[in-house]
Amino acid sequence: MTSYVLVTGGAGFIGSHAIVALQQAGHSVLVLDNLCNSEAQVMDRIAAITGVQPGLIVGDVRDETLLADLFSRHNIQAVLHFAGLKAVGESTVKPLEYYDCNVTGSVRLLQAMQSANVRNFVFSSSATVYGEPQHLPLTEDHPRQATNPYGHTKIVVEDVMEALYHSEPGWKMARLRYFNPVGSHPSGLLGEAPRGVPNNLMPYVAQVAAGVRDRLHIFGNDYDTPDGTGIRDYIHVMDLAEGHVQALHHCLAQQQVLSTLNLGTGRGHTVLEMLRAFEQACGRELPYEFMPRRPGDVAACWAETSTAEECLGWRATRSVEEMCSDAWRWTQRQYQLEDERAKAASLDS
Ligand code: NAD
Ligand code: WQD
Repeated sequence: MTSYVLVTGGAGFIGSHAIVALQQAGHSVLVLDNLCNSEAQVMDRIAAITGVQPGLIVGDVRDETLLADLFSRHNIQAVLHFAGLKAVGESTVKPLEYYDCNVTGSVRLLQAMQSANVRNFVFSSSATVYGEPQHLPLTEDHPRQATNPYGHTKIVVEDVMEALYHSEPGWKMARLRYFNPVGSHPSGLLGEAPRGVPNNLMPYVAQVAAGVRDRLHIFGNDYDTPDGTGIRDYIHVMDLAEGHVQALHHCLAQQQVLSTLNLGTGRGHTVLEMLRAFEQACGRELPYEFMPRRPGDVAACWAETSTAEECLGWRATRSVEEMCSDAWRWTQRQYQLEDERAKAASLDS
C-alpha cells in the first residue's frame, strides 16, 4: 500500500514547490486544498516538472468528516501543513477568519492525525513570531511577540504543538519559521500568484517589471540601514522547499522530537538592493518612489541559521540573482499566458 505525505495547502505558493522537492526525493504526495488562494491547475504544472501528478482533494482542513475519511482511506505517513491565510493587513480586519482557518484548522488536523495515529507533522510558522527584533541575527530562542492577529495565530499553533508533544509520547514535529520566501521554480511553471494588489515586495516589483503597476512604492528610506530602506532575509522558495524535505526526514528518523527551526539564508538585503537585482534580471530600470514607513514594519530582520544546519544538514544556497531571474521567468510566463487567453477569447467572440 502506497505511503503518502499529505500536503495541506499544496496548491499554494510554498506548498507547490515543496511537492516538487518531495516527489523528487521519492515521496508520494496527496494534497488537501480548498483553493481559496490557488487553482487546481497547479497540479498539472507540478506533473509537467516531475512527471507525477499529485492527487488533489479539494476541501477544507477544518472539515472533520473529510479529514477522518482521508486518513481512513489512505496510508498517510506524515503531514506538511501549509494551508492557512497569510495576509497581515487582512488579519487585522478579519481576525475571526484568521483564527478559525489557521488555529481551528491546525487543531482539527492534529485531532484527525491523533485519531489515525499519524504523528509526523511539519508546520509552516513564520519569522513574524519574533515581532520587533531585540537582537540580530534572530535566534530561535528570541522572545516571541505578535504584532497582528496573523502572527498570533502562528504563536498559538506553535504552542498547541508544544502542549500536544508533552501530552503523549511519539509525536515528531517541526515548527519551521520562514523568513521571506521569494523566487519561483526555475522552469517558470510554478510561482507566487497573489490576487489583487500584492502585499509583499517581490511580487509587487515583478508586476512593475511586467508593466502591470507603474512604480514601486518603497515604504521608508529613513531606517538605520546602509541605504535607509528595510532589510529582510529573502530565501529562494526552492531552498525552502528542500528544507521541508529535510525537516520531514529529520522527523521520520526520530522516536520523538519537537524542533523549532529558522529557515532563512542568514543574510539581509535592503529593498533597494532587491530592486536592483530584479532590474538586472529583467534588463531595465524600474521606477520607484519613496513613501512613509509602513505601520508595523521593522527596520531589519535576518535569521541565525545554524540550528537548521545542525539539525537538518540543510542550508540555503541560491543567490538573490537566482531569486530574481526565476521570479521574472515565472512572471513573464504568467502574463504571456494571460495575453494568449485574451486573444483566444477575442477570436471566439
Ligand atoms: P498560499 O496562500 O499561496 O498557500 C496557502 C494554500 O492554502 C492556498 O493554496 C490556499 O488555497 C490553501 N488554504 C487556505 N486555507 C485553507 C483551508 N482552510 N483548507 C484548505 N486549504 C486552505 O500561501 P503560501 O505563501 O504558500 O504560505 C503557506 C504557509 O506558509 C502559510 O501557512 C503561511 O502562513 C506560511 N508562511 C508564508 C510566508 C510567505 O511569505 N509566503 C512566510 C511565512 C510563513
Ligand atoms: C519586505 C520589505 C517593506 C512592499 C511579510 C509578513 C511576514 C511574512 C512575510 C508570512 C519591507 C518593503 C514591501 C512594497 C516596500 N509572511 N516593501 N514596498 O513585511 O518582511 O513580511 O511577508 O508569514 O509575516 O509580514 O515582507 O515583502 O511585505 O516587505 O517597500 O510594496 O519590503 O517595507 O521592508 P515582510 P514584505
